[in-house]
Amino acid sequence: MADSPSWSLDIDADRVAWLVCDTPGTSTNVLSAAVLRELAMRLDEIRAARAAGVVIRSAKPGGFIAGADVNEFQKIRSAAEAYPLVRAGQAVLQSLADLPCPTVAALHGFVLGGGLELALACTYRVGADEGALALGLPEVLLGIHPGFGGTVRTVQLIGVRPSLELMLKGKPFKGPRALAAGLIDELVPLDALNERAKARVLRKPPKATAPFVDKLLNTGAVRPFIARQTASTLRHSVRRDHYPAPFAILDLWQRYGAAGAASYDAEARSISELMCTATSRNLVRVFLLQDRLKGLGGGSAAEFRHVHVIGAGVMGGDIAAWAAFRGLTVTLQDRTAELIQPAIDRAKAFFGKRLKDPAAAAAACARLRVDVAGDGVAQADVVIEAIVENVEAKQALYALLEPKLKPTAILATNTSSIKIETLCAALTDPSRLVGIHFFNPVAQLQLVEIVQGSRTRPEVVLDALKFTRRLDKLPLPCKSAPGFVVNRILSPYINEALFALESGIPVAAIDASAVNFGMPMGPLELTDVVGLDVSLSVGRVLAGAFERKVPELLVKMVEQKKLGRKSGEGFYLWRDGKPERNGKPERNGPERSAAAGAAAGAVAGAAAGDLEDRLILPMLNEAVACLREGVIEDADLLDAGTIFATGFAPFRGGPLQYARTRGLANVTARLTELAEAYGERFRPDPGWSNLPV
Ligand code: NAI
Repeated sequence: MADSPSWSLDIDADRVAWLVCDTPGTSTNVLSAAVLRELAMRLDEIRAARAAGVVIRSAKPGGFIAGADVNEFQKIRSAAEAYPLVRAGQAVLQSLADLPCPTVAALHGFVLGGGLELALACTYRVGADEGALALGLPEVLLGIHPGFGGTVRTVQLIGVRPSLELMLKGKPFKGPRALAAGLIDELVPLDALNERAKARVLRKPPKATAPFVDKLLNTGAVRPFIARQTASTLRHSVRRDHYPAPFAILDLWQRYGAAGAASYDAEARSISELMCTATSRNLVRVFLLQDRLKGLGGGSAAEFRHVHVIGAGVMGGDIAAWAAFRGLTVTLQDRTAELIQPAIDRAKAFFGKRLKDPAAAAAACARLRVDVAGDGVAQADVVIEAIVENVEAKQALYALLEPKLKPTAILATNTSSIKIETLCAALTDPSRLVGIHFFNPVAQLQLVEIVQGSRTRPEVVLDALKFTRRLDKLPLPCKSAPGFVVNRILSPYINEALFALESGIPVAAIDASAVNFGMPMGPLELTDVVGLDVSLSVGRVLAGAFERKVPELLVKMVEQKKLGRKSGEGFYLWRDGKPERNGKPERNGPERSAAAGAAAGAVAGAAAGDLEDRLILPMLNEAVACLREGVIEDADLLDAGTIFATGFAPFRGGPLQYARTRGLANVTARLTELAEAYGERFRPDPGWSNLPV
């Protein structure tokens, strides 16, 4: 530590101490236990030097401090082990708060978690007025809450309502919002940050505290009322047994009112418990897996400026808009300008909504150009084909494209079901085709599958991974196999929901069972959102490849043009993009007489206990099959992909992590039971016996 300090300390001619954080060998400052211990030593030096004031800042261009060291969380085995560590961190920040001279945090970029807690322990906070300034307490996203006094000092500084918002949502406040809420005292130009921070400690204006109204809300008589109301709102989106942290934040506040030594101790005890819950362990794991996906494509030297997209339909139009939104020049081709216009209109609306600044929205529009003749192909660094799902049409298009491509350009297909080996067959250089498979809706879904055919060159895959990161999406590398990874895992889940429905279990019961498990929406609602026609075409590909049955109900509903949200009717009736519930949610369960209905009810009663496992375990089984077949490299990637593309209950850590938690023997025994009761589709995959535990 002495060799590579994380903090430097200088005391200037005005006796102002400059304490600068610069953790060695990293692009971002994080508050590890070692960094905190070193801070404690520097604070002792400052006290001994009788400084007139302290300015704390970061030497990293990206920001102040990004939070605690998440890797350290994973090493803590019990709440009893966590508690003294958390208390030690609190003590360091308390000694900062107790310095006899004024202190100021000079903030730029991200100021998150422990970084913000450190700033809160200062007398003042001055922020650099640049777009990147973001102050937040995102701990709740990792299944915990602030632990270095943040649950107490935030309420004292900015009051109850904004504090609860900051902690419960985990979304940072940008500079102007932070200023309005009182989280920072001043917003100043970046180049004046040091000077203004120093001026403040020398001038010593009164310290800010929460507004009067908020102090009233913090009284013992009012707290239970607000806490109850907030908890009831929370329960609409999360369950306490799935996500205990937000409820713990409310409990702490209600009980201690963010005051006195007891509130710090309670915060430490509470976070120590939360840190060791399965929820937090899994959320931390998912966070680290996300980092792993973000790191893919690191070895590629490719540069991307121009993207050419062919096919301006649902997918191509939205891919083009997203690429222009991310700053790339985009040419969009279809058979006629009229076919492209709806995509341009959609893009305009999207830019207007996402880029609040009209000049930025206009610039994004200017980057997206209609190109019926396909002139953009010759300049493009990436060409993405998103035309109809038809082998001949795609192959014919590639034959026209190939001679025009730059030698280094990526040639990518967005196909969701055709093998890359089939599509590349007619190319002179078949090794250059790669799958870049986006999900619908493109702007919302973070995950993109990067599909490597057996002939695709590894460097092309690497470039595609890098390009996906350039679009700020998460790439998931996989092999060209039916349904790739995500649709393959989802398909048995959707099918089982349909078989359950065919057997008489109501729509609402099926969807509720999945939501109860922790899925963001039920399988039938998901099918409505994706489109029944899209589900059917994926289902048919997988049924053909693995000799499975396509649910007849799905075929029938597609024939009846009941396609889900887009047609206004599927398993639900849709109004203004929302499913109608509480009333007549289900439209297309099997027609039943009263007597048949009662019988079906009895069946549903007996089957109810099996329903959750019937829906969830086939996803686990399919995940194991994907690993066995080598469609995806390892179990961690598979878990990450499933969570980021399907929303698979993040607090359970993904399908394979859930299988491990439940016990592999338990899962296979249960699958065997279900196979006996409901059919061979549940038979455990042979891959279970080789699964690394
Ligand atoms: P779409 O039918 O909405 O759009 C296809 C567009 O391609 C149409 O505008 C059509 O005019 C145009 N097109 C057809 N042949 C052309 C040619 N030779 N040259 C130029 N334009 C041509 O189709 P969608 O849904 O956007 O699907 C496109 C591709 O994306 C397919 O391969 C599909 O499997 C895949 N995909 C679809 C998803 C979805 O949810 N719809 C999700 C992920 C992938």
